[in-house]
Amino acid sequence: MRKLILAAASVAVLALVGPASAQSPIVIKFSHVVAPNTPKGLAAEKFKELADKYTDGKVKVEVYPNSQLYKDKEELDALQLGAVQMLAPSNSKFGPSGVREFEVFDLPYILPDLATLRKVTDGPLGAKLLKLLEPKGMTGLAYWDNGFKVMSANKKLVAPEDYKGLKFRIQSSKVLEAQFRSLGAIPQVMAFSEVYQALQTGVVDGQENTPSNMYTQKMHEVQKFTTLTNHGYIGYVVVVNKKFWDGLPADIRGQLEKAMKEATAYGNGQSAKENDDALEEMRKSGRTELVKLTPEQDAAMRKAMEPVYNDVASRVGKALIEEFVKETKSTTN
Ligand code: LMR
Repeated sequence: MRKLILAAASVAVLALVGPASAQSPIVIKFSHVVAPNTPKGLAAEKFKELADKYTDGKVKVEVYPNSQLYKDKEELDALQLGAVQMLAPSNSKFGPSGVREFEVFDLPYILPDLATLRKVTDGPLGAKLLKLLEPKGMTGLAYWDNGFKVMSANKKLVAPEDYKGLKFRIQSSKVLEAQFRSLGAIPQVMAFSEVYQALQTGVVDGQENTPSNMYTQKMHEVQKFTTLTNHGYIGYVVVVNKKFWDGLPADIRGQLEKAMKEATAYGNGQSAKENDDALEEMRKSGRTELVKLTPEQDAAMRKAMEPVYNDVASRVGKALIEEFVKETKSTTN
């Protein structure tokens, strides 16, 4: 009995004198729209784990996948208002929040591979782009990969003509809009969480995405053909609410930066494999036929989409496009 009372008393004393931070950790709500078992979903979980470790539990990251909290555009509004603290929207989704420059990543065939992408994002241009987020109340912390896109429909898509008149779901990017228009298709902006149903019911005919996004949303079950075009890239910018971030104690911010750096290396180190695995699962399922383009078909697709660079020059910025292209061609030092 005596032991019990003593134990209860020590709990009470601890509760009275314990530091406030030990009782109420700083909470970071991290909202995203994809499944947990995707490149972004896994990187977010890794960040959560490392943030807990490096801050000794002073920061708790709550990850909300699958648009549980917000859909595409709402997510960015919520971050700017401070209703959530962290997101990783795709580059294509910053336009409606007034930062169109990230749409440069959407240009067809602008990035030949992930190594080239990394050169751009890790270099001065990557840093310059992140700065553009600050006047909008966001701080850009890192670039996270997804990967290269495939095209799907219930029709076999091998030539530009095959796209004519078909409705394609797109993310909210004017570059993606111009891309589908260059193929004679009809682009339709739609939130990610609505794509599966739109494909299933025929609201749209096709879509473009990475294999990991397609597979985890089961889109391959309602699309007879998936063409391995690799015509564009989907990647993310991890953003935090700037006021929240600037208001953190400096030591905590430093620990979170360390956690982010490691989570980024982890996620980017395995994104290609996750997409390869997803593609293999899609093939094994037998629900969608994977279509490879011949070099001639690939060349025809590239040619058809070439005008997009001019079409969007005034929106994204001609100088920015030129700088980006130059960076992709420069040799690594
Ligand atoms: C999409 O909307 O297709 C993607 O941006 C979803 C995502 O976050 O990968």
